Amino acid sequence: MSFENTASVVQTRLDGEVLVVSINNPPVNALGQAVRAGLLAAVEQAAADAAVQAVLIVGEGKAFIAGADIREFGKPAMPPSLPEVCNAIEASNKLVVAAVHGAALGGGLEIALSAHYRLALPKALLGLPEVNLGLLPGAGGTQRAPRVMGVKAATELMLSGKHLSAKAAAAAGLVDKLVDGDDVVAAGLAYTRELLAAGTAVRRTRDIEITDKVGALADLEALAIDTAKKARGLFSPLKIIECAKAAVNLPFEQGLAHERALFVQCLESPQRQGLIHAFFAEREVTKIPEAKAAAPRAFAKLAIIGGGTMGAGITVSALDAGFTVTMIERDAESIARGQANVEKVYNGLIAKGRMTEESKAAVMARYTPSTSYDDIADVDLVIEAVFEDLEVKKAVFKELDRVCKPGAVLATNTSYLDIDAIANATSRPQDVIGLHFFSPANIMKLLEIVVPAKVSADVVATAFELAKKMKKVPVRAGVCDGFIGNRILAVYKQAADYIMEDGASPYEIDEAVRGFGYPMGPFQVTDLAGGDIGWATRKRRAATRNPAARYVEVADRICENGWFGQKTGRGFYLYPQGARVGQPDPEVLAIVDAERAKKGVTPRKFTPEEILRRYMAAMVNEGAKVVEEGIALRPLDVDVTFISGYGFPRYRGGPMKWADMQGLDKVLADIKEFEQEDPLFWKPAALLEKLVAEGKNFDSLNQG
Ligand code: 3HC
Ligand code: NAI
Repeated sequence: MSFENTASVVQTRLDGEVLVVSINNPPVNALGQAVRAGLLAAVEQAAADAAVQAVLIVGEGKAFIAGADIREFGKPAMPPSLPEVCNAIEASNKLVVAAVHGAALGGGLEIALSAHYRLALPKALLGLPEVNLGLLPGAGGTQRAPRVMGVKAATELMLSGKHLSAKAAAAAGLVDKLVDGDDVVAAGLAYTRELLAAGTAVRRTRDIEITDKVGALADLEALAIDTAKKARGLFSPLKIIECAKAAVNLPFEQGLAHERALFVQCLESPQRQGLIHAFFAEREVTKIPEAKAAAPRAFAKLAIIGGGTMGAGITVSALDAGFTVTMIERDAESIARGQANVEKVYNGLIAKGRMTEESKAAVMARYTPSTSYDDIADVDLVIEAVFEDLEVKKAVFKELDRVCKPGAVLATNTSYLDIDAIANATSRPQDVIGLHFFSPANIMKLLEIVVPAKVSADVVATAFELAKKMKKVPVRAGVCDGFIGNRILAVYKQAADYIMEDGASPYEIDEAVRGFGYPMGPFQVTDLAGGDIGWATRKRRAATRNPAARYVEVADRICENGWFGQKTGRGFYLYPQGARVGQPDPEVLAIVDAERAKKGVTPRKFTPEEILRRYMAAMVNEGAKVVEEGIALRPLDVDVTFISGYGFPRYRGGPMKWADMQGLDKVLADIKEFEQEDPLFWKPAALLEKLVAEGKNFDSLNQG
């Protein structure tokens, strides 16, 4: 098949004896159909033109080529295929050089591996991250990378999805030459001419022999064992190892065919759908109305109020992002503890060899402890993380209102409290916003940005900018009890309590939830976070609880014994001698039995499938209510919240994507079935009913 090289996304020009092929497909030069066709045409042009002695492939803009066009997956294939393009590049009788100055990822690196020589500039990033999308390198990468950099290193690269720096790639043998500077065309031309002058012949990756086959297969065996342990339900990692084995055992062409077959299997798997949804959703969450309406305010100096669990974690996150931080605490003793909490994180890194005393000192030079609010008069942005008590928080915000300069952004890290009420305690509610970090705040990616009624658009834009600087995944949320995440969590946790009281043990429930792909079940999470936290919330809400609503008292009985989870050695599980993995506790089962007896419940059996049907139905139903009320902008915001903050298995795409993949009619039918037992708890969300009636899915609300 022959393709006209008319597409402007790939341009060719003759520079003396070298055909310069440059890809210009913003934003990241993804290999959409037009780019593939353009590249193939360029190779044909080079072959047909006697004046061309060599071909130089470069990318314009930030990237070399960021890979296949992910938006094309799941749609009908359009020729030429990427493997075809790679094979044509490799087969060229004219020397082909790839000069990489930015991202050469996935299919982008596969193009470079098909070139005969590779050059990299300092900002180049090379990798085969297909695994993150539920895929494997499907354009010869699994066959060529092992030949170029060794079987073990290539397989590790494919399994990790990591991006290598130019230096690391050169050390791994992935690039032939490193050049300083940023003029990729000049560097590429110079290198190409150097090769031509030396009479360098074409060097086809497919012709490289893998010599130590026995050693390579032993390495792959070890990687397979390790991957089976770590992959936790993921499909593509084990397929990557199969492809690497094919690279060792089979002739190149057969290896390619094997790769193709396994790539198609990955492409068709629901995991690919879930992971690609997650990839785009994580980028879509930053597209919020306020960002279009206003630019962020400038900020460099931060203050954090409170140096407890959250205050210290947020401080570390802010210091790591390069800000100066003043931490305010109540008294000398508390501020000393706050500083110790911060230093503990860095000392941990030093112990692990990931930081030096000098770099810690450099970071801590940007940290100032204080017990006086007057010291933060000139800061640009304040994050409050004091006790979860409305009156305490209002008092703090009154102080902030008194001391902070006009235009300073005032944020609260409250988990549940009414941020409108906190904002109204100041004379400047337009500057007050919620920044709900997750524990440990220096590690967890999720940041709920909670938007109260009177906040101005530029403050919301500033919060998103802060998230970007801190490398967090921001999700815009509206004000309600628990915002997006904790509100939905409360409901599916309740569903788990009902399942427990009706007959399943907490251990069976946790096991079923782990089987779905969560790292932990809900009762393990309670034990990890500390049962006392939820207990305090339940006691606070007792007076306002609907007396007609079903209430399970098991957790209260456990807390009354002082069993708060890991920190007290027992909770729902036993943790002998500080063990981190709990053991089932017969006394807890006796408490559950006693509560059932008290309520007259005859316990029945639950299969893991039924446990999950109920658990997920509760999650999706509340998720739909959160979208319906505008607390989440779109279903994808709920998905990102759960993937980034609550351990929801990324490969399932988030609860709303999961529901779409099940079929919303099926999820609604489950909810209606459960509604017969408990109409108050299982009331179907109006949005869910509407979507089912219209034959639509949640994803239809993500567009536009
Ligand atoms: N296809 C289509 N769109 C892509 C894309 C791709 N491969 N990579 C990035 N984009 C889009 C993003 O969705 C975003 O779009 P938006 O502006 O409309 O939101 C835009 O490009 C910019 O992306 P980022 O916001 O992520 O920009 P950054 O500068 O932060 O990061 C990057 C750039 C490191 C290249 C990052 O985008 C990335 O990691 N991309 C994915 C790389 C990847 O996974 N490649 C493998 C693809 S699968 C493959 O190649 C299969 C093959 O083996 C057959
Ligand atoms: P914590 O009890 O560990 O720390 C609170 C700190 O605030 C204490 O060090 C205390 O001395 C200080 N403090 C109290 N009043 C103060 C005042 N007036 N001025 C200055 N400092 C004062 O509590 P934690 O866990 O850090 O929680 C803080 C906030 O973060 C709460 O609103 C909580 O709901 C929220 N949050 C907590 C999460 C968690 O997992 N712990 C997760 C997300 C949010």
